[in-house]
Amino acid sequence: MREILVTSALPYANGYIHLGHLVEYIQTDIWVRAMKAQGHQVTYVCADDAHGTAIMLKAEANGVTPEEQIASVKASHEADFAKFLIEFDNYHSTHSEENKQFSELIYRRLNNAGHISTKDVEQLFDPEKQLFLADRFVKGECPECASPDQYGDNCEVCGTTYDATELKNPYSTLSDATPVLKTSKHYFFDLPEFEQFLKDWTRSDERLQVSVANKLQEWFEAGLTSWDISRDAPYFGFQIPDTPSDEPDKYFYVWLDAPVGYMASFKNLCDKREGSDQALDFDRYWAQENEHKTEVYHFIGKDIVYFHALFWPAMLAGSEFRTPTGVFAHGFLMVNGEKMSKSRGTFIKAETYAEHLHPEYLRYYFASKLSDKVEDINLDLEDFMQKVNSDLVGKVVNIASRSAGFIVKKYDGMLSEVCAEPELLEDITKTGDEIAAAYENREFSRAMRLIMQCADKANEYIDGKKPWSLAKQEGTEQEVQDVCSVAINIFRQLMVYLAPVLPELTANAKTFLNIEDLSFASRNGWLLGHKINKFKPLMQRIEEKDIEAMVEDSKASLAQADAPAVTENNKPAAKDKSPAIDANTDAEQTDYIGIEDFAKVEMKVAKVLECNHVEGADKLLQFTLDVGEEKPRNVFSGIRKFYEPEQLTGKKVICVTNLAPRKMKFGISEGMILSSGDPKTQLTVVTLPDNCVIGDVLA
Ligand code: MSP
Ligand code: ZN
Repeated sequence: MREILVTSALPYANGYIHLGHLVEYIQTDIWVRAMKAQGHQVTYVCADDAHGTAIMLKAEANGVTPEEQIASVKASHEADFAKFLIEFDNYHSTHSEENKQFSELIYRRLNNAGHISTKDVEQLFDPEKQLFLADRFVKGECPECASPDQYGDNCEVCGTTYDATELKNPYSTLSDATPVLKTSKHYFFDLPEFEQFLKDWTRSDERLQVSVANKLQEWFEAGLTSWDISRDAPYFGFQIPDTPSDEPDKYFYVWLDAPVGYMASFKNLCDKREGSDQALDFDRYWAQENEHKTEVYHFIGKDIVYFHALFWPAMLAGSEFRTPTGVFAHGFLMVNGEKMSKSRGTFIKAETYAEHLHPEYLRYYFASKLSDKVEDINLDLEDFMQKVNSDLVGKVVNIASRSAGFIVKKYDGMLSEVCAEPELLEDITKTGDEIAAAYENREFSRAMRLIMQCADKANEYIDGKKPWSLAKQEGTEQEVQDVCSVAINIFRQLMVYLAPVLPELTANAKTFLNIEDLSFASRNGWLLGHKINKFKPLMQRIEEKDIEAMVEDSKASLAQADAPAVTENNKPAAKDKSPAIDANTDAEQTDYIGIEDFAKVEMKVAKVLECNHVEGADKLLQFTLDVGEEKPRNVFSGIRKFYEPEQLTGKKVICVTNLAPRKMKFGISEGMILSSGDPKTQLTVVTLPDNCVIGDVLA
């Protein structure tokens, strides 16, 4: 029996659980259930990630203490997880005594071994709020392209990464105040000292997926840098111990104590279970010398690989704890092929989903999409409905519903004494080995395909035998019972295979089948001369209107909701020069802008004085526009595919006149011409009636 500890990343305590998060918790939960069903001793722990500036500010905005804030969010997280049948063995918080103990212990060991140093850091400081500004909380003009309103780490317009102190005309997003530069002492963890260890660790024992290991290789080549692990007061977190008493208090940066939360939650569980027959020994899982006795796996999203595959193993190795056996990253959730969007109603809270649709539909759909790769997965709502209805309702549940009636009505619920199709059943039992391996290798989509192939075989068998016509003939009593008994036996095997994905449906099937066990091994014993119970429908079809209602509800609930949660930036600071793997942390950003943002856009009536092709640019047209200013403006527009220059010359168009000038290969573009349509197929320039006055502002 293998002893396995599994974790999912700890969700931030300042926001609700949405369908994107659920990719991870559902993936982990399915894996844990599958491994338990194969007879291993598996423990699954998680916790809320409760520290950091964002949470402190959220509490302040809500007029509660940080402790009150994190307690109410934790309760809502746990309720959401329960709805989606995520079965943690323990759910704790990083703001806990255990976590404080372990964070201090790890820090002290690292410090004693000489892995901690201090350095003065000059940072932007909000003089009104009296706090240092993390990159997320300062905006300004990009030092490279001068685009306004760019965050303190990188420019979304030109992609340059920089230091927050390099922004031009910076302002605090918390108070609008102009930040000042202020110096303070910071504590650093010496990551470069662990370079060789990390290189060996990464390459050994298939701990990481290939694409993740390759990403690490790039980071090694770019060079590792020390990691800033301290933050100044005010900060919601743990105070760093042993700092000089005549100096201001320092706090652990949230990402230092967050992964320690895995240990803390496990320790909390060990204490709860002490003395019971389910007792767990903390050291057996975390002491360095036990590294090969037990297994530890972290399931995470691709945006937090840096923390789990570099900082965390280095911290553990440097403080004489064991390192994880494996870190498994998954991709991000897309809905209908696009990033989740609040205005389209595809930014869906777990809670909103559960009000309209059964959580097991989503568990099955995610399972049918998930693989061992770090690929984004797409929830296409139309495909979701089709797939669930056709696979689960049409194929799987149908096997039982078309055969159970005969057994219950005609044979008093008794299945045949002898199996009429041992080869078919054996074939499906054997496929079970492949299904088990696919689960273990996190190839859930393959597992679901194999299961549906088994269901297809069962349906073909029933279609061929037609028990409903047989039953009308004379002398076929035995045959009808035999055919339906084979079908019920296959259905039982499918329930075993689907149990990790559909715990509720399969638990109900257990009652119907009158069996106790759904472990993988149980499929070997066939149900012969066994009495089953009356069949009740196990799953309803998804109706289009339920999906529509969920989307509408999502639009409504998020439109009036408070501002989107600002999360701690999951990208390591740009100054670490080590971008996260395909980071997509802006998933939480809303598509809405306020009236004040809209009012910032200046649009004017412009006349096209000249329009020309651009040598060497097959997409562009070059415009000389009169916008009522002294000098005409030069504007490039990507509409060459749709217009000949003479079609637009002399026309009155709309020009955005306060867009930051953009330097392009062919010159500077000083505005933007409005057009409508799809840039891939057809764009139509919006033209104005001739009586519009050049230079007038559109309002
Ligand atoms: N608190 C950190 C993790 C600390 S672990 C020691 C964090 N929290 S989070 O709430 O932002 O995300 C929790 C997990 O959900 C992460 O693994 C993250 O990658 C995952 N996801 C968050 N949004 C997601 C999608 N839209 N799609 C898929 N996974 C997503 O990061
Ligand atoms: Zn820029």
